[in-house]
Amino acid sequence: MLNYNDFKLYKAVSVKLIPITSPRFLPPESVVVMPDWQQIFGNANPLVFEIGCGVGDFAAQMARLHPHWNYLALDYYNKGCIKTCKRADKAGLDNLRVVRDEARSFMDRCIPPASLRAVVINCPDPWPKLRHRKRRLVNAEFVGYLAGFMQPGADLYFATDFVDYGLDVAGMMPDLTGFENVLAPDLFRHDLEGYPLSKYMLKFMAEGKRIYYVHYRTTPQTGGDHGGS
Ligand SMILES: C[S@@+](CC[C@H](N)C(=O)[O-])C[C@H]1O[C@@H](n2cnc3c(N)ncnc32)[C@H](O)[C@@H]1O
Repeated sequence: MLNYNDFKLYKAVSVKLIPITSPRFLPPESVVVMPDWQQIFGNANPLVFEIGCGVGDFAAQMARLHPHWNYLALDYYNKGCIKTCKRADKAGLDNLRVVRDEARSFMDRCIPPASLRAVVINCPDPWPKLRHRKRRLVNAEFVGYLAGFMQPGADLYFATDFVDYGLDVAGMMPDLTGFENVLAPDLFRHDLEGYPLSKYMLKFMAEGKRIYYVHYRTTPQTGGDHGGS
């Protein structure tokens, strides 16, 4: 029987999708097996991966701020991918590519171990009800999994408006091996200098909520063993 996440993914891939024609969109058939990222971006710049990019406003700002990074923005929300592509096309951001997929499935197939320069997760679905908390994307197991795809010295950025989610992630990170806290001695901050604001961050801030930022970096020993298929 399908579990809830399988069902969401099934719906995402089975409903009639508006085709995406942008040259910055990586069509599903191009990400079935490990792609040649150097060939796709046309250079060997560091690869940065954003999970759940939504409409891509943050991704576009990051790609503009870091022209020497190859920025890969992923979401399984088709309209979000379309909007992200439109932004990137309009701004002529040649260092930004967009993928429509489920994060974990995509990483297993398409991200080489120990290859990512940074991972970005902004305002992931909070699953506010207590009985739904286990559906949250970010937990110790997931961060351990991410670590296998990150280079030594790679950045992990997490941001949420949801107090309980922010405190959970901030509280669990010090116990994980292979990461050092860039914000130490703080476990989290409500401002992160130089870090752009996403659509959801702006929405929550307009409602008077504060953002919880968590920023860690992999240690020199980290990387390579994600245990994924
Ligand atoms: C609350 S929105 C935040 C969007 C954006 N990061 C922002 O801050 O404006 C969460 C996004 O994550 C995407 N998402 C959640 N889980 C995902 C997964 N496992 N794989 C891919 N996308 C995912 C959703 O489709 C949604 O667009």
